[in-house]
Amino acid sequence: MKTTGPGTATDTVTSRLTARGLTLAYEDRTVVHELDLAVPDGRVTVIVGPNACGKSTTLRALGRLLKPAGGAVLLDGTELSRIPTRKIAQAVGLLPQTPVAPEAITVSDLVARGRQPHQHWWQQWSDADERAVTEAMERTDVTALAERSVDELSGGQRQRVWIAMALAQDTDLLLLDEPTTYLDIAHQVEVLDLVRKLAAPAADGTRGRTVVTVLHDLNQAARYADHLVAMKAGRIVAEGRPEDVVTAGLVREVFGLEAVIVPDPVTGSPLVVPGAPWKPSAPSPRKAS
Ligand SMILES: Nc1ncnc2c1ncn2[C@@H]1O[C@H](COP(=O)(O)OP(=O)(O)OP(=O)(O)O)[C@@H](O)[C@H]1O
Ligand SMILES: [Mg+2]
Repeated sequence: MKTTGPGTATDTVTSRLTARGLTLAYEDRTVVHELDLAVPDGRVTVIVGPNACGKSTTLRALGRLLKPAGGAVLLDGTELSRIPTRKIAQAVGLLPQTPVAPEAITVSDLVARGRQPHQHWWQQWSDADERAVTEAMERTDVTALAERSVDELSGGQRQRVWIAMALAQDTDLLLLDEPTTYLDIAHQVEVLDLVRKLAAPAADGTRGRTVVTVLHDLNQAARYADHLVAMKAGRIVAEGRPEDVVTAGLVREVFGLEAVIVPDPVTGSPLVVPGAPWKPSAPSPRKAS
């Protein structure tokens, strides 16, 4: 694969993870309808869309937490349902929107749980496990919290611990559902910069990791995505490069919001400014005397 940078015309894009005709339902209520998606390898894919449009549901199906009601999710061409759970866990890491920690678990123990798919009955804990946990905690800025109980952390600290656990799993594919929730703006940027670093090709040209993440902030989505997917009511409305996807028409169609799109002064990516373009109001008609 060429490594000419994201989104360039000469790239050959491959996809280990794909959804074909994916229909997802809770009991008899269908919330995702025949969705087709090819997640580009070694890129950052960001899913955006209004509340309840099916983003988390889709992500959970991509991570095999939810069984399709129709169609399939394929990993390397094989349906997830045919792959052993352990093999999937070695390839795909999923950070759900509202993960639940075991009671009174410490930060380091929770992050260490990310290593479970790599352990064997003959070797419970290796140097590689230790390294992965230490590095994941450093990259998410939670090393100083290692011995604290997860229960007693702030929302943002806890969120970073969950990201550390997903990183420690050390998978080629990483699915993150709203990883910036609860984070202050500096930590949001730090986490998203980290996501970009994970996806960056190595110095020898080996491709980086594949990340799919749900974000609500359209401006962050446009800044950090190589591939942007806009969903509405369980369907993909548009996908592609952020500069092609984020238009005033799309924001109106997907969110029902009037907005002006200007270039982000730092990155040049589309910046969504809510509000219709300002026009001087017409002079009020004079009352007939
Ligand atoms: N466990 C569940 N049981 C029944 N219905 C559910 C369940 N989880 C989600 N739903 C419903 O499925 C639809 C899609 O939900 P989903 O969580 O995928 O939305 P979302 O796009 O992630 O929204 P948000 O931006 O609020 O996180 C919603 O109508 C929701 O009420
Ligand atoms: Mg969600």
